[in-house]
Amino acid sequence: MPKPIYVLNGPNLNLLGSREPHIYGSETLDDVRRRCEARGAALGFDIDFRQSNHEGELVDWIQQARVEGAALVLNPAAYGHTSVALYDALKTLAIPVVECHLSNPAAREEFRRHSYVSLAATGVIAGFGAAGYELAIEAAAGLVRKASPAA
Ligand code: DQA
Repeated sequence: MPKPIYVLNGPNLNLLGSREPHIYGSETLDDVRRRCEARGAALGFDIDFRQSNHEGELVDWIQQARVEGAALVLNPAAYGHTSVALYDALKTLAIPVVECHLSNPAAREEFRRHSYVSLAATGVIAGFGAAGYELAIEAAAGLVRKASPAA
């Protein structure tokens, strides 16, 4: 079994399902986790799925993914727009990083149009709701296989 794909979620995503469902959908974070685990299993990867409202904890987990992960899927939530600390942590990674957003921040308020995470990500998936996490895992798994076909 290859190393797991880390799926990290930032602040307020614990409220998925009840938080602005017209923007973020009605699925809960547990529903999203189950989607990720099913897609990961179909592709031969374990999924390490976590959420935190705390920037430093996300930095710690990115550093963990650097050593223990095959790839990282990150929905940084609002920290994507503000966090140089997440950017600096991501810049230390040699593994693929897929930034993922449920909504399409580029089509929303002006302050959402900049992402520090995008500056360090391999690619970005946004605007496809919970299904975007599955697309992000597919992209991440494809990049891992391409880098090391035996993984
Ligand atoms: C989000 C988009 C961010 O702008 C916002 O702060 C979030 C969620 C998304 O998944 O669409 O909390 O990352």
